[in-house]
Amino acid sequence: MKSFYITTAIDYVNGLPHLGHAYEKVLTDVIARIRRMMGDDVYFLTGVDEHGQKVQQSAQKKGIPPQEFCDQTSAEFQAILPKLNITNNDFIRTTEERHKKVVRAILQQLFDKGEIYQAEYQGYYSTRQEQFLQNKDRNEDGTWPEIFGEVSEITESNYFFKLKNYQQWLIDFLTENENFIFPKFRQKQVLEFLKEPINDLCISRPKERLEWGIPFPFDENYVTYVWFDALVNYYSAVADKPGVWPPAYHVIGKDILVPPHAVYWLIMLKAAGIELPGGIIAHGWWSTNGDKMSKSTGNAVEPIAFVDQYGADAMRYFMMREMTVGQDSDFSDTQFQARYNSELANNLGNLVNRTLNMTNRFADAKIPTAGPDEEPETELKQLWASTQAEVTDLWTKFQFNTALERTMSFVTATNAYIEKRAPWKLGKSTEEADHVLLRTALATMAESLRLAATLLQPVTPGVTEKIYGVLGHTPGEVWSDELAWDGRLADRPVDKSLVLFPRIQAADKNSV
Ligand code: MSP
Repeated sequence: MKSFYITTAIDYVNGLPHLGHAYEKVLTDVIARIRRMMGDDVYFLTGVDEHGQKVQQSAQKKGIPPQEFCDQTSAEFQAILPKLNITNNDFIRTTEERHKKVVRAILQQLFDKGEIYQAEYQGYYSTRQEQFLQNKDRNEDGTWPEIFGEVSEITESNYFFKLKNYQQWLIDFLTENENFIFPKFRQKQVLEFLKEPINDLCISRPKERLEWGIPFPFDENYVTYVWFDALVNYYSAVADKPGVWPPAYHVIGKDILVPPHAVYWLIMLKAAGIELPGGIIAHGWWSTNGDKMSKSTGNAVEPIAFVDQYGADAMRYFMMREMTVGQDSDFSDTQFQARYNSELANNLGNLVNRTLNMTNRFADAKIPTAGPDEEPETELKQLWASTQAEVTDLWTKFQFNTALERTMSFVTATNAYIEKRAPWKLGKSTEEADHVLLRTALATMAESLRLAATLLQPVTPGVTEKIYGVLGHTPGEVWSDELAWDGRLADRPVDKSLVLFPRIQAADKNSV
């Protein structure tokens, strides 16, 4: 079995999980499920980023020790995973000993190699953002933007990681591996960034300014600063699991690609002599009702409220259907409800209802054996052949929105096929030829539904299971065998009914 290791970013725990966090988990889960279905040995890691000044401050405000604060908020992040039907194999917290041990070992190794040095640093510092600022960060009138809060000039001694030495290596690496970052235009942005000389990276904070971090192994007066701690999680989680490393992909948001993942992380790995990941997928950002979503603006969509009301499958479907991976998207109740009603409740829901109703009414609740194909069946089968080839190909390009659109077009075509065959008329006929056609129509509807459900599996696994269930179908071990159109459903007993997605009525609007 081929190992396929995939990771999400680890979330800061100083706020609550929102739509952006949920989306990243679902996107990664869809990829993980596809690779599992294809037979890979998948290891899927997610987790939380627990150190840093903001966590220290939030804990202080609440009057509790930082570890207790992290325990509380991390539990909230962990709790959304089963709710969204996420199949992660591991959940890492950066306050765990397995992580701290590896961070310290890498720091020591790089220090011994001369890749880390101590120097004086003088600069403008924003406490709110926990970062040193440069003059280019100022507003046009010379003041500092609101988001930085109070900015003061400070001098301190810190440890630095020699990024500069690796700049040319990184340019060469990304030039040779032109598909390393998805989407491709982001790779160009990284190369653009690398046209300017890069500074060495400050990787420490003096303990008197920040206590809540991992102490340096060679200098207890300092703790590791944000990125050098957080990025290592991908490695520390599997350091004692042979065969898992390297990751096939890191899935992250566009905001943390340049420089953290595409520059710091790749250079850290290179300098430490650790094999590089296979690639990075940088997704876009959700806004809500046109506004940028953030913890501070208070317009964050609470993903679990949607899940509780409409189910994990509806939420997963919407996020994957609405967003083109790599582009930004907007989340609005109206758009959610429009897609839910038209694509899930009406289109898919209709096919399910009709298949079950008519098989109950005209075939004693048992899927019949199809007779010879005529033009409508041949057409639908041809559409299936192209749909399944196209969808599985779109998956390899992370074009899940188009893949879902194609799958739903196949469902639409099946509904049109039903209109054409009009089983309700055939059922009333006394001609044997019509009865053959009726059996063919019922078998064709059921088979199409099974096949559509098979392609929906990575995005809406619950729906697939339910549809298989009402069709009396038990899938085989090999997922790709499920894509073949055949007569495997013949004689299967079907259920009376299944309401997958109750229509959202206008009165429900804005109830979440
Ligand atoms: N802790 C760092 C990541 C360290 S990875 C070694 C961090 N945390 S975060 O909580 O701010 O963001 C976690 C992930 O959620 C990031 O990939 C980020 O891009 C993503 N999102 C946060 N808000 C988002 C949206 N509004 N929309 C989509 N994803 C967004 O950064």
